[in-house]
Amino acid sequence: MKNIAILTSGGDSPGMNAAIRSVVRAALFHDLKIHGILNGYEGMIDGKFIELNSSSVSNIIQRGGTILKSSRSQRFLEQSFRKLAFEHLKTNNIDGLIVLGGDGTFKGAAQFSKEFDFPIVGIPCTIDNDLVGTDFCIGYDTAINTAVDAIDKIRDTADSHNRLFFVEVMGRDAGLIALRSGIAGGAETILIPETKMGVNEVIDVLNKDWKREKSSKIVVVAEGDEEGGAFVVAEKVKQKCPDFDIRVTTLGHIQRGGKPSCMDRVLASRMGLSAIETLITGERSVMIGIINQEVKLLPFEKAVKHHMELNPGLLHLMEVMAS
Ligand code: F6P
Repeated sequence: MKNIAILTSGGDSPGMNAAIRSVVRAALFHDLKIHGILNGYEGMIDGKFIELNSSSVSNIIQRGGTILKSSRSQRFLEQSFRKLAFEHLKTNNIDGLIVLGGDGTFKGAAQFSKEFDFPIVGIPCTIDNDLVGTDFCIGYDTAINTAVDAIDKIRDTADSHNRLFFVEVMGRDAGLIALRSGIAGGAETILIPETKMGVNEVIDVLNKDWKREKSSKIVVVAEGDEEGGAFVVAEKVKQKCPDFDIRVTTLGHIQRGGKPSCMDRVLASRMGLSAIETLITGERSVMIGIINQEVKLLPFEKAVKHHMELNPGLLHLMEVMAS
């Protein structure tokens, strides 16, 4: 193996740049040439390859986003475009690929790797943290800290005005951002897709004597909760409890940006080095994970098929705190 390429795909996450830096520096350490592919699988289809060196990744460990840009490629779902992408890899003499992203990225990687018998190693980057095979995905820690910071600020104004806020956080169909940020933000209760809590139960929690007397109330709602987003839930609560002074805040894409936390930078740096060393050992279609502080490899198929189970201890904590 002499030439490696790296791309970032899907929704960006804070820490992707730290991982790119680590991959580049580790590749050079092992005397490999390293190329960046711009704009994810789209750039692979269009042949957008650039050579990277040590200084290409200077001063990026602290930056959010991705210097390689990202995309959600529809064309990569088609065999004819994947073939084009493969031809560009061959033209650029690439013999191993590292992809950074979430489950969509790894689904594409699994198919491509099988179709063209091409070595690919994945690094899990998603604020949703919804992949099995690793305790944490790059970006999740930063996103939950961003969410907690926002919840704390909302708490200040909620407290001044005796208001009830519904705060919507991201996570697609997973409730992991909501669960941790809700616990850390002292939310009255948390709505996540993994539990069946409905509007009536939310009202019961809010009507508990001591909660009624609280000058601020915050309910964190995961965007994928089956009751609907925060606006829908707030409307349903308003209809049944017209005396609550309600406001809604959707945190949205601020959760995807910003300086990566220390934890994400270290995680990204470890995973980047492992990705290079894993390719060197001849692995072909695996995701890097870190479980209980140890690097583990998981075949792409397994990383994409399952969703992470929520920690029962955190769920119990959530229930007790809401009671
Ligand atoms: O997967 C990351 C994520 O931020 C989800 O939490 C969210 O549902 C989705 O991406 C938003 O995607 P986009 O930026 O393409 O609208």
